[in-house]
Amino acid sequence: MDKVCTDREFLSLKKHIYDATTLDCDQYKDTYLQRRFAVRMRATSTHDYNDYIRFLGSHPEEYDELMRDITINVTQFYRDEFVFKAVEEEILPLMIYDKVMKSRNTIKIWSAGCSSGEEPYSLAIIMRELLGDDIGNFHLTILGTDIDEGSIQTALTGSYLPRQVTNIPKPYLEKYFTFNGTNYQLTNEIMEMVDFKFLDLFKGSAGTNFDVIFCRNVVIYFTKEMQEKLYMNFYRALNDGGYFIMGNTESLVGEAAKAFVQVKARERIYQKRIAERGGNCSPQSK
Ligand SMILES: C[S@@+](CC[C@H](N)C(=O)[O-])C[C@H]1O[C@@H](n2cnc3c(N)ncnc32)[C@H](O)[C@@H]1O
Repeated sequence: MDKVCTDREFLSLKKHIYDATTLDCDQYKDTYLQRRFAVRMRATSTHDYNDYIRFLGSHPEEYDELMRDITINVTQFYRDEFVFKAVEEEILPLMIYDKVMKSRNTIKIWSAGCSSGEEPYSLAIIMRELLGDDIGNFHLTILGTDIDEGSIQTALTGSYLPRQVTNIPKPYLEKYFTFNGTNYQLTNEIMEMVDFKFLDLFKGSAGTNFDVIFCRNVVIYFTKEMQEKLYMNFYRALNDGGYFIMGNTESLVGEAAKAFVQVKARERIYQKRIAERGGNCSPQSK
């Protein structure tokens, strides 16, 4: 940037982005946004925020590039294998056992900020393996939501490059994918287990009565206030005793730190406390 960018220009750029895309930039940390804007300004050879606003006006396709840069959608199947190992071997079997003991057959899982689908599809593979022939006895919903329409479109193809599938256990890769020489294509059975929807987490929720919510590597650039608000939304969206799994570099903040019980520290797996009469919370007995 050749010229100093003033606060007013920064606010004006955020407003332009909101007007054109409805993305509320105020929910991101300023320092993070400034870094992302600087990247796009270098790429477009613009020199200050006003110059960049003019560029956006004459090149509306730049809004897509900017959105992609702000929302960063790097992901892969079984991202952080140790987390998926705990989910596959401990958390989901416990959740299923609890359902069976209570004669309940509805299971709802939400991957919030699912990018191109690797996370919810990993969960679908695990649920398919865990439920086996009993899968038809359950009403299973796996929902993937994201703000990036392009990522959702990629998810709907179910087609992935070799580097995206490297962590998938080999027997699952052979069972649930076909390789066409370039890409790995998920089977229809797994693809049909996941619903994808556009959702801006600043504006809404995917519903209630979830048993498990994954929101990993999504909120790191959100303001602390937005993080707390979002975690409390997840708290309300979960069933009593439901599980919340966050990213390895993320932590619960404010009121949310008291609303969940830590189940596995390194894996950042938490369980919803049950509200007691009088407003206090207690851990769910297993
Ligand atoms: C780094 S990816 C994480 C993908 C996956 N959860 C994982 O851990 O591999 C972050 C995702 O969050 C999404 N995201 C960012 N801001 C969002 C918002 N306000 N509402 C919904 N999704 C958002 C991005 O579009 C991106 O796909």
